Amino acid sequence: MMAEAGLLGAIIGGSGVYALGDGECDERVVATAYGEVTLYLGRGASAGIVFLPRHGREHSVPPHRVNYRANLKALASLGVQRVLATAAVGALNERVAPGRLVLVDQFIDLTKGRPQTFYEGGASGVAHVDVTEPYCPSLRAALAAAAHRRGLACVEGATYACTEGPRFETAAEVRLLAAWGADVVGMTGIPEAPLARELGLCYASVAIPMNWGAGLVDHRLDLSQSARYLEEGTRAAVQICLDVLRAGGVAPCACGTSLFVLHPPAGEGR
Ligand code: HPA
Repeated sequence: MMAEAGLLGAIIGGSGVYALGDGECDERVVATAYGEVTLYLGRGASAGIVFLPRHGREHSVPPHRVNYRANLKALASLGVQRVLATAAVGALNERVAPGRLVLVDQFIDLTKGRPQTFYEGGASGVAHVDVTEPYCPSLRAALAAAAHRRGLACVEGATYACTEGPRFETAAEVRLLAAWGADVVGMTGIPEAPLARELGLCYASVAIPMNWGAGLVDHRLDLSQSARYLEEGTRAAVQICLDVLRAGGVAPCACGTSLFVLHPPAGEGR
């Protein structure tokens, strides 16, 4: 596939994000080795920005069924270099209380059996990717600056625990995650972040705490209150993602040089 001219980057929208800004866009279906992906190429004020609603525009795909490999491959095949994601999460401590935006800088992976790599051996090669610093520090700094300019409450640096879902956690699981040093818990950050890194893309995620982790405040999650945090948080998160992609000028980083290839994919030679 030919790279798109004038691309600024992509926004992967999580729960609550089903369109960009004014919603003006062209739909594009991209075929990949992992399946087809429907993307939206922004027009007007969002020109140059690709939008990918992670759960589909009608939220019909649950976290464990998202085709993460196809999504990332489709973005890369268009020539996207910068990917900003939003992710609804549960808060595990006061520092990341609902109502703030959280720019995550580490993850703990508790998913089960999701395909995590493009390098499956044989013809697709073998490689290991460095995720010491799993999110692009330059994009994260740009997002923090954008939030600051807009006067938004934003926490820079937090550990994201990714569970398999689709169920929420038990109170005991939340206590464990907090004791392990996780700040927020969600269901979609993995394998999105490491797959982006395998492709050498710059990837950052804006987490939106929409509830307290199970058992932290009451014996049940307060889901009606959560809808308000999600709505307000997603609006703010999309705004800073658009600001960063439109402004460009993000500092150089090492995201493109993190892959240790032991056996190249067929056709790429040794
Ligand atoms: N746990 C896991 N994923 C989530 C939560 C949660 O409490 N809230 C939003 N996504």
